[in-house]
Amino acid sequence: MLVRLIYASRSLAPIDNDLTEKVLAAARSYNPAHGITGVLCYSDAIFVQALEGGREEVNRLYARIQSDPRHKELTLLDYAEIGARRFSDWTMGRVRLDKINLSLLLKYSDKASFDPFCATGRATAALLDELAAAGAITVRG
Ligand SMILES: Cc1cc2nc3c(=O)[nH]c(=O)nc-3n(C[C@H](O)[C@H](O)[C@H](O)COP(=O)(O)O)c2cc1C
Repeated sequence: MLVRLIYASRSLAPIDNDLTEKVLAAARSYNPAHGITGVLCYSDAIFVQALEGGREEVNRLYARIQSDPRHKELTLLDYAEIGARRFSDWTMGRVRLDKINLSLLLKYSDKASFDPFCATGRATAALLDELAAAGAITVRG
């Protein structure tokens, strides 16, 4: 059975290339063997991540990620049983939130930047769906 979990968190340090590379390296070494796919979105301070895979595997990985001292205020935005993966092309894709096409952003946000802590989980899930459909998810930043 497949589930998709989406959460947001605040980074303790400014999010730079070094930090995202370390996080993505962990994802690349762990996720494939555990059937996890997903996307990591980030600004200079905030992470939004979607994890999809088997329920037990997703729950277990989320517990690991929750205890990671590099971020805080983890907020569960959406948790759903899904019929099919949305991010099956990515062990862990990446998207810079400040690079998202403005019209796409405005579709789901009341201002010209996206704040997952203010948006509904449904809006965040819909935005991530559209990013995948629009080909906006990359492997490298
Ligand atoms: C925002 C964020 C996203 C992460 N995503 C993943 C991931 O998708 N897969 C993964 O294995 N580790 C991920 N990590 C790293 C884990 O939290 C953890 O550091 C890693 O699994 C190693 O755990 P260990 O030190 O207990 O072995 C992420 C960390 C952060 C801060």
